[in-house]
Amino acid sequence: MTSVALDNLSVIYSPGSQVLGSVTLRVEPGELMVLLGPSGSGKTTMLRALAGLLQPSEGDIRFDDRSVLDVPPEQRGAVMVFQEHALFPFMNVAANVAFGLKMRRMDSAVIRSRVAEALAAVQLAGYEARWPGELSGGQRQRVALARALVIQPRVLLLDEPLSSLEPSLREELRGTIRTLQQQAGITMIFVTHDQTDAVAVADRICLLMQGRVRQTGTPRSFFERPVDSEVARFFGGINFLPGIKRGGIVETSLGPLEVVATDRPDGDVLVTIRPEAVEVGRNGHNNLVGSVESYSFQGLVARCGAGISDTQLQLTVPPYQRFRRGERIVLHLPRERIHLLPLEP
Ligand SMILES: Nc1ncnc2c1ncn2[C@@H]1O[C@H](COP(=O)(O)OP(=O)(O)OP(=O)(O)O)[C@@H](O)[C@H]1O
Ligand SMILES: [Mg+2]
Repeated sequence: MTSVALDNLSVIYSPGSQVLGSVTLRVEPGELMVLLGPSGSGKTTMLRALAGLLQPSEGDIRFDDRSVLDVPPEQRGAVMVFQEHALFPFMNVAANVAFGLKMRRMDSAVIRSRVAEALAAVQLAGYEARWPGELSGGQRQRVALARALVIQPRVLLLDEPLSSLEPSLREELRGTIRTLQQQAGITMIFVTHDQTDAVAVADRICLLMQGRVRQTGTPRSFFERPVDSEVARFFGGINFLPGIKRGGIVETSLGPLEVVATDRPDGDVLVTIRPEAVEVGRNGHNNLVGSVESYSFQGLVARCGAGISDTQLQLTVPPYQRFRRGERIVLHLPRERIHLLPLEP
């Protein structure tokens, strides 16, 4: 299994416009790292640099601690599945999937069985003789995935591999990718702008914004310990209140809140608590009385806005729990769920 390291990697397409700035990241052997970020943040650019399709302007890329900057793409052992999942239009599905194995001059019986296995893994058994033009977007995407998996590369780079699939197939294929990656021990970098896909599939997530790494860590760490409010917002955080911390208490517009003593110094802070961490009902400390200002049913949960003096807190409740606007509501903010962020200017 192969480790991948980026060291202070910068990419400039044209003078004055830096698309990636000093990216440093290490992907452990056999790890599934999700590269997450909004559109235009530089995700595809980073994959292209890893695959050897573009030369960085600064920094180094190492596979197993050896620089690969001078290694041509076809010898790096990194295979990239493109966002636009280009298949060879003049080859049928079987030939598309077999392509990489033929290039490696493998025995044709072995090729046939590996191709059948890969197509079965992406649920396209029986599609061998179809032409790319006869497939849906999602099916083409799965053929492209099979074509990469079949090679069993050292490093697999997937650029938005699930983008044109409907939710149920998306979830299933997410699981398939994860299983195949673990079975084959492939080090994988999986690009997406979808937070749900990222959380479901990743060992760790690297969040890229405007060409810079903002936070790297387990999916859970982005919910429990986001580094700043922008990262917290990207992961669905919506309650932010300025406050002044003195020891285990923060003064806010909701009144004094007990917090767990953190390593953040006393003084100005930004208090945040996730909507799903706010509890309904009185319980120990940090109880607040307010009135329901909004309620919306969202299927798996319901979202509720509660006004407390001049401040609104958003919370999620189980969907069967109904609230009427104007109804009195008592909330509990568990102190261990309150996270303190730097107060940004
Ligand atoms: N060949 C190129 N020449 C000049 N600028 C480019 C080139 N390719 C990409 N860019 C610019 O670099 C930035 C990052 O592009 P990139 O394709 O890496 O983003 P991305 O994170 O993959 O976005 P998306 O989620 O939309 O695919 C964008 O502002 C884009 O316009
Ligand atoms: Mg892209």
